[in-house]
Amino acid sequence: MNLTIALLPGDGIGPEVSAQAVKCLQAVAETFGHQFEFTEAIVGAKAIDKTGNPLPDSTLELCKDSDAVLFGAIGDPEYDNDPDAIRPEQGLLKLRKELGLFSNIRPVKVFPTLIDKSPLKKRFVRGTDFVIYRELIGGIYFGEKNLSKDGTVASDLCTYSEAEISRIAHMAFKAAKTRRKKLTLVDKANVLESSRLWRKVVTKIGESYPEITLDFLFIDNAAMQLILNPSQFDVILTENMFGDILSDEGSAIGGSIGLLPSASVGENNALFEPIHGSYPEAKDKDIANPIASILSAAMLLDHFGLDEESRAVVIAVLKSMKNEIVTPDLDKNSKYGTNYIGDFISSNIRESDDHLTINRENIWLGKSTII
Ligand code: IPM
Ligand code: MG
Repeated sequence: MNLTIALLPGDGIGPEVSAQAVKCLQAVAETFGHQFEFTEAIVGAKAIDKTGNPLPDSTLELCKDSDAVLFGAIGDPEYDNDPDAIRPEQGLLKLRKELGLFSNIRPVKVFPTLIDKSPLKKRFVRGTDFVIYRELIGGIYFGEKNLSKDGTVASDLCTYSEAEISRIAHMAFKAAKTRRKKLTLVDKANVLESSRLWRKVVTKIGESYPEITLDFLFIDNAAMQLILNPSQFDVILTENMFGDILSDEGSAIGGSIGLLPSASVGENNALFEPIHGSYPEAKDKDIANPIASILSAAMLLDHFGLDEESRAVVIAVLKSMKNEIVTPDLDKNSKYGTNYIGDFISSNIRESDDHLTINRENIWLGKSTII
């Protein structure tokens, strides 16, 4: 298969972690006989520094014209202090919107070999395997924003249309069909009108998926349940901001935010990125965990139907974990760095041929469980 991939390393640890994902994709291309052509472009703080724009037109055009986008991370503390400055994050938000990436898929899974790293008790964490379908280009993130002239009153409007809810709801129901057949809509329907619309639309769509058990949780309760009993969840469907918050919370269950990948999918484009931020304190120290970025590459492969290739990446990742080849966020005495782990995983993709024989399902889109 020939794929053109726009590589947007971004800020902070973005470049070093996405470099490891590229190594793995190159290993896949060589091992399985594909052509992946990477073209790099700037975004975020780097792009503001160079052009004044966190998403230059040339970067946007490249992304639109590519089969996929591999994204590193965005954000720089330099821009946190001045509330009037253009923020790097605006680049990512605009990119999501322009590419129409309405569905953000965030699998949360606990790796058995890392279960001790969880801050929660093992017996609660074991078996955690759910996926968040977060609406990504609507809601309060993109509603009208206002600040009064005197700067003392501000508002952000949360709007959703039936069409916006329905397109992601169908994706989430379809995902549930391939998994444990449970879908939980997380909302705040006891307070918000937009949440009541979500419930109405999702309930109606649920009628055409009779094999799926649909239930509802208020966001406050969901935040609590995620910690008390995370293994109860299968597919969580939710709006933009609730999904943002729940996915960070979810990432803590497995012991490190550095492990979780994501796919953002629309009608014509797809972007793959870790759920973590730019972690500027770790920049260029060779300590950042590249697993989230590497697993995002696995999701990319899966997106294009390259199941076996995707599985090869996941299995190589699992091997690194089994051998305790992990970054310091998971083992503070670890002597392994970002680069070493990328080399280890990519050479495993190249060398081993057990991905051809081990009959395991890809974990990342949740087509049943492995590990
Ligand atoms: C995420 C991030 C982004 C978001 C930021 C960087 C704008 O937190 O992808 O979860 O809020 O969506
Ligand atoms: Mg977030």
